[in-house]
Amino acid sequence: MNLKQIIKEDIYDILKDHLTMEEILVENPKDRKMADFAVPCFAMSKVLRKSPNDIANMIKEGLDNEIYEKIDVINGYLNIFLNKQMISKYIINKVLEEKDTYGSNNIGDNKVIVMDYSSPNIAKPFGVGHLRSTVIGNAIKNISIKNGYQVISINHLGDWGTQFGKLIYAYNTWGNEDLVRQNPIDELKNLYVRFHKEAETNPSLEEEGRKCFKKLEDGDLESLKIWEWFKDESLKEFNKTYDLLGINEFDSYNGEAFYNDKMDAVIKELESKKLLEFSDGAYVVRLGEDMPPALIKRSDGASLYITRDLAAAFYRKNNYNFDEALYVVGNEQTLHFTQLKKVLSKMGYPWSEDIKHISFGMILQDGKKMSTRQGKSVKLHDVLVEAIELANKYIEERSPGLENSEEVGRQIGVGAVIFNDLKNYRTSDIEFNLEDILKFEGETGPYIQYTYARINSLLKHKQNKNIDYDDVEINEYAWNLIFKLYSFPEIVIRAKEKYDPSEISKYIIDLSALFNKFYANEKIIDEDEKMTNFRLTVCEIVAILLEEGMRLLGIEAPKKM
Ligand code: ARG
Repeated sequence: MNLKQIIKEDIYDILKDHLTMEEILVENPKDRKMADFAVPCFAMSKVLRKSPNDIANMIKEGLDNEIYEKIDVINGYLNIFLNKQMISKYIINKVLEEKDTYGSNNIGDNKVIVMDYSSPNIAKPFGVGHLRSTVIGNAIKNISIKNGYQVISINHLGDWGTQFGKLIYAYNTWGNEDLVRQNPIDELKNLYVRFHKEAETNPSLEEEGRKCFKKLEDGDLESLKIWEWFKDESLKEFNKTYDLLGINEFDSYNGEAFYNDKMDAVIKELESKKLLEFSDGAYVVRLGEDMPPALIKRSDGASLYITRDLAAAFYRKNNYNFDEALYVVGNEQTLHFTQLKKVLSKMGYPWSEDIKHISFGMILQDGKKMSTRQGKSVKLHDVLVEAIELANKYIEERSPGLENSEEVGRQIGVGAVIFNDLKNYRTSDIEFNLEDILKFEGETGPYIQYTYARINSLLKHKQNKNIDYDDVEINEYAWNLIFKLYSFPEIVIRAKEKYDPSEISKYIIDLSALFNKFYANEKIIDEDEKMTNFRLTVCEIVAILLEEGMRLLGIEAPKKM
């Protein structure tokens, strides 16, 4: 039942001699107290040569459908109140029937979306910068699947490039195998830092680093062995972070190195299409006045980040035949992806249009970029562990003796971090403050999880009885809650269209707030059996949607906390 459509059709029946269906607007009122739906009559007034209020009154006279309970005419608007009994019955039954598939649609028609997200860099800490890519990517994946798309998830690991030449040089010169084994990420970082320090006084090191990378690209076995080892150790570390996050199901871990043998073909094609130029000691593709040229190959033959991304784009198009290719990567790489698309379009591939950079803002701490703390880079793993510790402390205070408390502590701590990341518009910068994100009130993960757990404890009293809608009285609190559920399918569509999980976060925040109002103003369980049954059923459908909303965001939903 598409209520807006029904209202439109009803009005069209009255005015069809004067208006087209498109000219009739049905809006969500700014203030729900004013109406369930509002119809502005200003534009119609020109065509009909009557005042908006007269038109509204005329429509009001003509409307005859049992879905309307009350219609007000105010300031040129038709304010429509729906038949609460009838609509509630419809929504409640639909959610009870469809459960977690409520809100799913088939707009995607099984089209393929290739998603490139997370993509941390080997031999470097998995930092908070990659947190955003990981959780936004994971949520967009879930949202896309709910919209009927097929999603291929790719962790495009940063495992290739000059930095590996430098690292291999540093390891061969100053490295110690045992130290790397014990503490790979920190040790490799130390080596990398040392390389740069020494290079300050000895610039020839830069050249050595480049040579080492060239050797690696040319397939030198000794270099490859060390590289492989660095990669394995790094992945072991990264997996600890992925396990904590509960996000660990990429369809592919083909990182940059995977494209090493696939770049020549791209370069040949660029050459044959006369797009490659030698300039300032390197091969470039010129992209016009408003953009710097794309650097494709250095004079020593070594490849670059964009060269690997070009090869990856072809590989993905050929292997997955995607309809959309999303790259969930921070704002600072906007130029890179604009160049990538432009090169592909100059090569004559119309599907360059299907490549989309899903960018996002930074994580700030006290207003500053949170990638370093006292000069040390902030590891995502440490942040998650801190959040979990704080969550455990709260559990001890609030619910001592909780069963499974360790698992719940992880769910709350990690959920808080994820929710904080997804609650604002994707493109905004976000502020990170551990104390704030773990509060049980306000717009936080724990607030939603807590609301969900509270409902679950109420549901223990639920008996499965049918509701007799003629016998229940639906007050404002219950109705606001039920009507909010009606809009969920629209939210799911919008979240995909905008590639923005915050649509879902904001929705479940609102839903939780409406539930808590309902809970504060009504005794859910009392002597009136019919009303108790009705209220508990409302609780049940709210729980279904909160759980599904959290699932889409990648947040776990403990039943008790
Ligand atoms: N590893 C890169 C970084 O950390 C992100 C990779 C994004 N994906 C891509 N296909 N370029 O900056």
